[in-house]
Formats: sequence, structure tokens, C-alpha cells
Amino acid sequence: MTHAERIIILDFGSQYTQLIARKVREAGVYAEIHPYSISNEALVALQPKGIILSGGPSSVYAEGAPIPSFDVFALGIPILGICYGLQLIAHQLGGQVDKAARREFGRAMLDIDDTSDIFAGITTGTQVWMSHGDHLTAIPPHFERLAHTENAGICAIRNSQRRIWGVQFHPEVHHSTDGVTILRNFVIGICGCSPTWNAASFIDAAIADIRATVGESGSVICALSGGVDSTVAAVLLHKAIGDRVHCIHIDNGLMRKNESQRIVEMFKEHFSMSVDLVDGTDLFMGYLDGVTDPERKRKLIGGAFIELFEVEAKKFSDARFLAQGTLYPDVIESVSIKGPSATIKTHHNVGGLPERMNLALIEPFRELFKDEVRAVGRMLGIPEWFIERHPFPGPGLAIRVPGAVSKDRLDILREADEIYLEEIHTAGLYRDIWQAFAVLLPVQTVGVMGDERTYEYVCALRAVTSTDGMTADWFHMPYDVLARISNRIINEVRGINRVVYDISSKPPATIEWE
Ligand code: XMP
Repeated sequence: MTHAERIIILDFGSQYTQLIARKVREAGVYAEIHPYSISNEALVALQPKGIILSGGPSSVYAEGAPIPSFDVFALGIPILGICYGLQLIAHQLGGQVDKAARREFGRAMLDIDDTSDIFAGITTGTQVWMSHGDHLTAIPPHFERLAHTENAGICAIRNSQRRIWGVQFHPEVHHSTDGVTILRNFVIGICGCSPTWNAASFIDAAIADIRATVGESGSVICALSGGVDSTVAAVLLHKAIGDRVHCIHIDNGLMRKNESQRIVEMFKEHFSMSVDLVDGTDLFMGYLDGVTDPERKRKLIGGAFIELFEVEAKKFSDARFLAQGTLYPDVIESVSIKGPSATIKTHHNVGGLPERMNLALIEPFRELFKDEVRAVGRMLGIPEWFIERHPFPGPGLAIRVPGAVSKDRLDILREADEIYLEEIHTAGLYRDIWQAFAVLLPVQTVGVMGDERTYEYVCALRAVTSTDGMTADWFHMPYDVLARISNRIINEVRGINRVVYDISSKPPATIEWE
């Protein structure tokens, strides 16, 4: 997509780099991330209005410390260095960086010495977030100090003439109270960007882009998984090219209760879009018969999906494109410092298909974060209950019935899962939880119902909090809610006589059980 104005973030390996991009975009300015090793020519070709140097785990003195191969300070483009970025400025421009007596990590109060530009509108004493080992002990020539803290005598610096700023703390982190204001002061006040990047402007630009790519004839196929990304992509494509987008949803028999029907109805009701609902239950069940190994389940499901999808997609003989909901984090995933192409994922469950069918890919969200896709979805009129849904894995419930998958066991799980989610919604907890689901264990235990002895399955409940699924903590579900859920599942679901709650965090456990 073309962008009239952009801020480039050079990544030096900080865990917060993606947050910088998100916060700059929150200020209404488009920002993208590139590895610090980008060439001078490539960087200049991007025509950045400003450059932000991210933090990073290295010391500027470490062997092999990341340092750009050219003089980024000579480009004449405004620069803001954050943490390692600040130390790099000092190191390269004649200041002094030393190991701090002790690592500084956590909250600090910022004493602001100058509020004329990046600290404009911010009151001294504001809370900032620190995370560093090295610190500045001497300001480079022609720079001046803008702020300090009790621990760090030099916490922010500026060279007005060369238009270079640096801060020791992390304005992108939530705990830096005025962080977005600082970033806004830089990108708007100093770099001169206009705050016009938002969901509405993205939709306009994306529609123009899709129309230009697809052209006047031919169609686009969209594989609807039931997740937020592919759904928002389908609605956006429909807005751009109308009925020339063909949506296919495969019910693999591994979806939650009534889920496939709900998806098809939502498209019809809200967008007057028809979705080809393909019942692949028998095919998938056939492949999965007797299979217990989790990775084998995943492979077989992926293979079956491609097999069926190819047959369905061939029905649209004028199709030239396949739409996918690839997101920005998939594109840059921890990339960044190694170089762009190194770790890009082959994505979603249609791997290999575009080449085989000679379809080009359309990925309208390649530049968006998940929250931004949600904002786009809301603006396009997708109902809130759908936008807010927890993530759901591609292999579906197959990886939530450890051991062999059968229709009977899936049906039992669907009933339990439905009650679980219903009660979480009723308790008003759904939005506090990142992901919640039930698992049907391949274990039967003894129980007693009325005067009868029972011998039925154990159902495990999982609920976690997380920000990206990479790490997670178990959700501290109120006891009364747990009691209601357990009571209802045992009483209402035939085949389950015991419920347990999973209290493992990730790591060392994973979110899913398989
Ligand atoms: P784990 O279990 O690895 O899960 O902690 C992290 C997140 O990824 C989801 N997940 C998957 N998603 N295909 C997917 O599309 C998969 O094979 C798969 N396995 C796990 C999981 O639901 C969680 O959100």
C-alpha cells in the first residue's frame, strides 16, 4: 500500500519494537518496522518523515552489537533513539555510555528540564518505564539534556540543529504514562506528519488498492476460517469488488457447536453475502480415524483442507486471486533484526495451494496489527460479539480431544464447551480472558449419579490471560463461576462426570493441550 507519510522504526532487537509501531499509529501516523541492517538506499527509498531507533538487548560495546552500516545521522531526517537507540546516538556522536552500577528496571519519575518539543504538554514527575543495563554518563557535543531521573542523570537529550532526540526510557510501554504524547510530539510536532492514519483512512486506501490489483474482471476466492482476520478480509473485499469475491467455508467437523451455520448466517444477515458452506466432516474424520499423535493430526487436517479447498475453488474458473488474512506480526515476526525475509512464515492452512492453482495472493492486512483489524472490522459493521472472539486454532477441536478423535467425543466436547463459554459470558468475564476452552480427556473416572455408578470422561477447563499467545497465565476464575460451570456440565452433558480446572502457565505448559 502506498503511504503519503511514514515513520520508519529501525529494530535493534527490543521486545517492545512492535509496540513502538502500534503507539505511533495510535497517534494517527503510519509506522513500519525494518531491521537495523537495512541499506542506506532502501531506507532513503522509503522516504521516511522520521526515524525511530528501537531499544535492544545489546550493549553498544558488545562484540557484534547491532550498528547500522551507514551514517543514519547524516540523512537529515529527524531521529528519536529509545534506550539502546539513545546509547547508539551517544556512542556514535561522541558521548559516553557506561555500565550502570545496577540494572534499572521498572518505574521511574521523570524530571523534565525542557518542555519545548518532545516533552511539550507533559508535567514534570510523570512516570516512565526503564529497562536498561548501560546508561549515559556524558552528553555528546552539541547535545543538551532534556530530562533526568534520580537514578539517571541524563535521561533525554537533543541536538536541535541536527534534529536528533534520544530517551533512556520506553515511551511505547503502557507504564510510561505520557508515552503516546511523547511519540506524538515527535512524529507530529517534530517530523511534521499529519495524524490521518486510522481505520477509515485504511479502508479507503485498501479498497482502492484491491480494485487496482484485481482489475475490471476476474474474481477473488476467500477461505473463511471463522476467525476475525479472514472474516474482515472477506467483508473488505466485498466492499471493494462486490460479488466478485467468492467465500468458501469448510466445515471440517471440528468446529464448535453450530459455529459454521452461525458464520454463514452472519454473512447473509449483515452483509448480504453468500458463503459456500462445504461439509467436509466425513473426509476429515476419515483421515483422523485412529490417529492420536498431535502433530500428525495437524498435518492430516492441513492436507485434507487443501484437498477439499482445491476442488471447491476450481468451481470458480475466473478466479485469479486468493485472499488471506495475514497480519503484520506474521510478516515481521521477530524478524526484524536478522533481516526481513529470514523468518517470514508460510501462513494459514492453504500452504502450497496458490502456486498449484496459479492464484496470486491478496493480503489486505499485511501491514496491520490485530487490534487494527478489529477496528477495521467494527467500522465495516461486523458485530461486536464476532470481533471480540477468542482465538481458535486451525486444527479446531481435534487438538482438544487428546487421543483418538471421534464424532461422539467431539459432540460431548461441543456441549461442554458451549456451556463453559456461555457461563463466562454471563459472568461478564469473556473480555478479561484471552482464550477459554474445554478439553475432553481420554480418561474415564468413576462417579455416582442418583443411585447409579457412572464411568465417564473427565472434562478439563482452560482459561488464560495473554497479550500475544507467546506467554500466558492461567486465569483466576472466581470460585462461584467455576462451581456453576462444573455443576452445569456434569448435569447437562451426557458422557462427563468430572470437571477439572487447568492452572498451568505458559511456559512451561502451552495454551492448547496438544
Ligand atoms: P499454544 O498451544 O502453542 O498456542 O500455546 C498458542 C496459540 O496458538 C493457537 N494454536 C494454533 N493455531 N494452528 C493454529 O492456527 C495450530 O496448529 C495451533 N496450535 C495452537 C492456540 O489456540 C493459541 O491461541
